[in-house]
Amino acid sequence: MCGIVAAVARQNCVPVLIEGLRKLEYRGYDSAGLAVLNPGLNRLRSVGRVAELAVQAAGVEAEIGIAHTRWATHGVPSERNAHPHISGGLAVVHNGIIENFAELRAELSAAGYVFQSDTDTEAIAHLLQHTLKAEPDLFAAVRKSMARLSGAYAIAVLKEGERRLIVARHGAPLLLGVTEQGSYAASDASALLQVTRSMVYLEDGDVAELSRDGYRIVTADGHPALRSVTESLLSADAVELGHYRHYMQKEIFEQPEALGNTLEMLGGAGALSPNFFGAEAPRVFDGVRSVLILACGTSYHAGLVARYWIEQIAGLPCSVEIASEYRYRQSVADADTLVVAISQSGETADTLAAVKHAKAQGMLRTLTLCNVPESALIREAALKFLTRAGPEIGVASTKAFTTQLAALALLTLVLAKGRQRLSAADEQTHLAALRHLPVAVKKVLQLEPEIERWARRFANKHHALFLGRGHHYPIALEGALKLKEISYIHAEGYPAGELKHGPLALVDKDMPVVSVAPNDALLEKLKSNLQEVQARGGELYVFADRDSAVEASEGVHVLRLPEHYGLLSPVLHVVPLQLLSYHVALVKGTDVDKPRNLAKSVTVE
Ligand code: F6R
Repeated sequence: MCGIVAAVARQNCVPVLIEGLRKLEYRGYDSAGLAVLNPGLNRLRSVGRVAELAVQAAGVEAEIGIAHTRWATHGVPSERNAHPHISGGLAVVHNGIIENFAELRAELSAAGYVFQSDTDTEAIAHLLQHTLKAEPDLFAAVRKSMARLSGAYAIAVLKEGERRLIVARHGAPLLLGVTEQGSYAASDASALLQVTRSMVYLEDGDVAELSRDGYRIVTADGHPALRSVTESLLSADAVELGHYRHYMQKEIFEQPEALGNTLEMLGGAGALSPNFFGAEAPRVFDGVRSVLILACGTSYHAGLVARYWIEQIAGLPCSVEIASEYRYRQSVADADTLVVAISQSGETADTLAAVKHAKAQGMLRTLTLCNVPESALIREAALKFLTRAGPEIGVASTKAFTTQLAALALLTLVLAKGRQRLSAADEQTHLAALRHLPVAVKKVLQLEPEIERWARRFANKHHALFLGRGHHYPIALEGALKLKEISYIHAEGYPAGELKHGPLALVDKDMPVVSVAPNDALLEKLKSNLQEVQARGGELYVFADRDSAVEASEGVHVLRLPEHYGLLSPVLHVVPLQLLSYHVALVKGTDVDKPRNLAKSVTVE
């Protein structure tokens, strides 16, 4: 989603703005722009890549500026709709959605303001200009204007004649970077690592004034706010591509290390402890009667896997809800339900709203599993667990997913132990399997050359089916999602038993059918389903285990994972599906890390 970078410095800040936008490219965008004061307002915008904006900005120098990557919501991607938006000598960049923009637009048009774009952001620019008539101080005018905005947003504002920037957030991420040379703001830390590791995370309602000598923050009601300075642990290298061709490839191959980091506490722990989820966890988990998982997209698929684990091993009823549905559904609340939010970014608007909705209904036992410290979801829940996958730049989630699964497996086992459903011997067996997980995934990654060969056969297909059963059914869903989002091949995931209830009608020689076929209790059932495909001339691509009794034959291709991994088998089986999508996308020549129309951090509804 949209990315913001803003700077007021003692030297030329244009290179910092451009580099910051480059670092935010992964969030997804379709146009980019910046505005600087040198000394008059100078705006540059372009549809397409930040690299094109950089060409336009070559030779431009200024000590104060705001910059933006736009992911279209109101109005098509075009230069006219690209940010910054201007009203008089004032420019605004904005992330999020202003829900009452139509009303504001009508009001401001009636007051004589002429809109040049279709965006909601331009309404903010004119509103500010209008407010300045009665309240000439820019800082006060931003605060006053915010009271008129509904929706979730982060903004940065500059104005001719001012040596300061004003930024504000309400429901969309924004943080400050503080240095001796100046003050900076951005949508996430990766954009500011180039100048500092000292970050100040703004809270909802905060308005901040940035000058080259420092900053001040006030809350929505105008009181000075003290926000702590956090040293970012993000390594600058972690956001570099290194020797990989794409971030997605890098992130797939980082999974062993990411899993090791997520499960690091198990190295020294001889036993499972609820304290892995925070000091308050024993109290929050005590007496829990069910689990409700809230998430979107890939994180939702992780939740679907966990449902099988939590019901089977911890013996707790578990429901998994797509956050955008749950937040508006009239459901039955139970205060003894553990509400688990899963999110890579921790900023997904629907998941955040869903957790708030659950809390408003009296469900206060909340836990966030998340990859980003200090994110909104981390702050929203009573308990937090950091997945420690490291920054995920590729839009298609990979290492975030497997580390979410590791965290969910840990949660399942902790809940099971708390309910006396885990023998000491089983506890040790599970702990050993978790500790061995990074090594097991490393072995699966060695299948890449064969998967690359398979991928060539998919590149000219228009549709694909992914089948799985039991806790591998969500893995089929995830495989289909990965393929469709980065290769643009239409793909559907199905529980294999459901095939004959409809989708079998689609199967012919042009429809590749990918099947997840671990050597588990459902393998024989799955094989019957695969025969149904074969009998209709479908081409089968089967990911089996070393000892799965599935043989290759005419129209049946089989690849074997090195070992069967029981409870954690979904963590292994998703890896070849990630590699398959990646290589199909490579053959098709799509933009692997930034697939069209998608954003990394979905901060709007
Ligand atoms: C797919 C993908 C998305 C996200 C979804 C939720 O590869 O990445 O489906 O999983 O947008 O995002 P988070 O996990 O940040 O809440």
